[in-house]
Amino acid sequence: MTTTITVIRGDGIGPEIMDATLNVLDAMQLGLTYEFADAGLVALEKHGELIPAATMDSIRKNRIALKSPLTTPVGGGFSSINVELRRRFDLYANVRPAKSFPNTKSRFTSGVDLVTVRENTEGAYTPEGQETSADGEIATSIIRTTRKGSERIVRYAFDLARRTGRKKVTVVHKANIMKSTSGLFLKTAREVAQQNPDIECNEMIVDNTCMQLVMRPEQFDVIVTTNLFGDIISDLCAGLVGGLGLAPGANIGTDAAIFEAVHGSAPDIAGKGVANPCALLLGAAQMLDHLALPAQAERLRAAIIATLEAKDGLTPDLGGQGNTMGFAKAIASRL
Ligand code: NAI
Ligand code: MG
Repeated sequence: MTTTITVIRGDGIGPEIMDATLNVLDAMQLGLTYEFADAGLVALEKHGELIPAATMDSIRKNRIALKSPLTTPVGGGFSSINVELRRRFDLYANVRPAKSFPNTKSRFTSGVDLVTVRENTEGAYTPEGQETSADGEIATSIIRTTRKGSERIVRYAFDLARRTGRKKVTVVHKANIMKSTSGLFLKTAREVAQQNPDIECNEMIVDNTCMQLVMRPEQFDVIVTTNLFGDIISDLCAGLVGGLGLAPGANIGTDAAIFEAVHGSAPDIAGKGVANPCALLLGAAQMLDHLALPAQAERLRAAIIATLEAKDGLTPDLGGQGNTMGFAKAIASRL
C-alpha cells in the first residue's frame, strides 16, 4: 500500500512534535508518503497567506492531512485558522477520544475510555450574526442548528460506535432551556436513535453531564453533542485523563479529514525540544483507523502506553526529564 498524506508542520512546537511523530510512523513502515504543505504563521511569512492555495489543493487531492498546531495571528483575516480549515472542507465531525493512561498526573489513570463526537460546523460557531448594538449595550450571537447538520453528526456517532465495538451513545443537550436549537438537535437525535436500535442511547442535559463526567466518567462511551457543548466537554475530558499533552482530535468530513493534537503551538516552550509528542501521535493513530488500518493504530497506541508504563523518556509535562525526539524514539522502540 502507498498512501500520500498532506503533512503540515505548523508553528511553535509544531515542527518538533511533527518530526517526532513522523519518526515513529517511519519506524512502523506503513508505506505512507508525505506531501509537506504550509499553513499558519510560517505560511504567512513564506507565501503571504495563512492558508495558501497549494495547501488547499494538497488536502483536496490527498483527502487526509496530519496537522501540527497553527498560530492564528491576532488581528488576522479570520478568527481561527483551524475553524477556517474545518469550514472550507466541511469537516463536520470533531472526534476526540479520552482514555486514561498510566503514569500521568491526572484524576483518572484507569477506567476512562470515551469519545466525544462534536458537531463542528454550526451551532454557536455560526460566523454571521455576532452583533453588538451601536451604543455597546446589547450583544447578540446567533446559534443556528439545522436538521441536516444534527442528523449527520448523530449518524456519525452511531456509526462510530458500531464500527469500534462501542455500546452506548449519550446525546448531550440543553433542550429544556434552548427549546428551538437544542430542541431540534435532540428531536433529530431521537429519530436517528430509533433507526439504530442495536446501540443503546440515552440523553443527558449538558450541566449534569459535566458533573457526571467528573464523578463517574466510566459510565460514558460515545458522547454526541452540538458545537459549543462539545468544545467545552472535550476539554473537560482531556483534563480528566492527563491533559493537553495526551489529547488528540480528528476533523472528519465527506471529502477530507484532518488529524491533529488538541493543544496549540505552545510558544512558551517552542524551540526547547521538550514538547510532548503524544497528542499528535495519538492523532496519527486516529488517522490510521481512518485509513482502515486499525491493527496498526492499536500497535501505535500500545507502544505509547508501554512507554508511559515504563516511564521511559517522558517529557517534563508528564513529570519526566526527557525531550521530544527521545520520547518518540522510546515509543518507536516498543512498536
Ligand atoms: P497551548 O495549547 O499552545 O498551550 C497551553 C499550555 O499547555 C502551555 O503552557 C503549553 O506549554 C502547554 N502545552 C501545550 N501543548 C503541549 C505539549 N505538547 N507538551 C507540553 N506542553 C504543552 O495554548 P495557548 O497558549 O492558548 O495557544 C498558543 C497558540 O496556539 C495560539 O496562537 C493559538 O491560536 C494556537 N492554537 C492552535 C490550535 C491548533 O492549531 N489546533 C489549538 C489551540 C490553540
Ligand atoms: Mg477548544
